[in-house]
Amino acid sequence: MKYLIFGNGYIGNKFKDALGGEAVISGVDIADYQAVKQELAQQKPDAVINCAGKTGKPNVDWCEDHKLETISSNVAGPLTLLRACGEEGIYWAHVGSGCVYTGDNGGKGYSEDDAPNFFGSFYSRTKAWSETMLKEFPVLQLRLRMPVDDTPGSRNLITKITTYKKVISTPNSVSVLEDFLRASLVLIGKRSTGIYNMTNPGGITHAEILDMYREIVDPFFAYEIFSLEELGAVTKAGRSNCVLSSDKRESAGAHMRPVREALRATLQTYKANLHRV
Ligand SMILES: NC(=O)c1ccc[n+]([C@@H]2O[C@H](COP(=O)([O-])OP(=O)(O)OC[C@H]3O[C@@H](n4cnc5c(N)ncnc54)[C@H](OP(=O)(O)O)[C@@H]3O)[C@@H](O)[C@H]2O)c1
Repeated sequence: MKYLIFGNGYIGNKFKDALGGEAVISGVDIADYQAVKQELAQQKPDAVINCAGKTGKPNVDWCEDHKLETISSNVAGPLTLLRACGEEGIYWAHVGSGCVYTGDNGGKGYSEDDAPNFFGSFYSRTKAWSETMLKEFPVLQLRLRMPVDDTPGSRNLITKITTYKKVISTPNSVSVLEDFLRASLVLIGKRSTGIYNMTNPGGITHAEILDMYREIVDPFFAYEIFSLEELGAVTKAGRSNCVLSSDKRESAGAHMRPVREALRATLQTYKANLHRV
């Protein structure tokens, strides 16, 4: 089984590590139809995983000032893959985002059938646009959200929030990467199509994660709480805070551990890894 991964970034390399020798990463521009066709012809993959996209560096505020680059990578790129993979008859999966909602849908969490309702950032709008178009076609869409990793790093939610001076205290869905990768590969293995919320069951606040961090990793860790209004005053784009439903993914047999259980286990490994880096 050969996988071709587009997007030589954080998540692309996580898939590569999970798949090992079965996977190749491509850095070609996914919005360049000829380059994508050539790569498919050369690599002859059994399946494609699209992890390419503009997330904004150092954060999504970048997308507000780089709309053309963002739309090329987050909308035109997926549409180019849709055409090229469709023409070659290649199954593909697209890493989307859960940051297309706000709130917790009255405690139920948003399901894959709920229309996006968060339009406060250009980044989130591009993710919702591509998702809405791709859902008309047999493509697997994996909604990732706030990745949590057992290895310290600037893209890891744990590292991010432990370096912020203040955090918000609103429930959110997060994706513990170990579970996200395992569950994604279950769905890909079954050649599933459609949208799936790839977040651990349950919502958790950043403050609660930091309380666990203090308990498991650093007993001297201290933090302060930000209100959403205070956060809004220092960011250019709005930030999505939402809880997603796990029902569809769990019913499909792509299990992810309840969020608190997964976070506790991840923080234990994170602590061990902290002393290695
Ligand atoms: N990490 C998150 O918090 C998160 C959460 C939810 C969803 N996602 C989604 O997951 C996907 C992967 O994100 P990530 O965290 O791995 O981001 P990342 O580390 O920035 O990786 C994305 C990679 O794609 C590349 N890229 C951008 N435009 C491209 C194009 N047109 N053609 C080919 N490659 C292109 C980027 O290169 P440059 O750096 O040169 O642009 C980068 O190497 C994105 O679609 C993102 O929206 C991420």
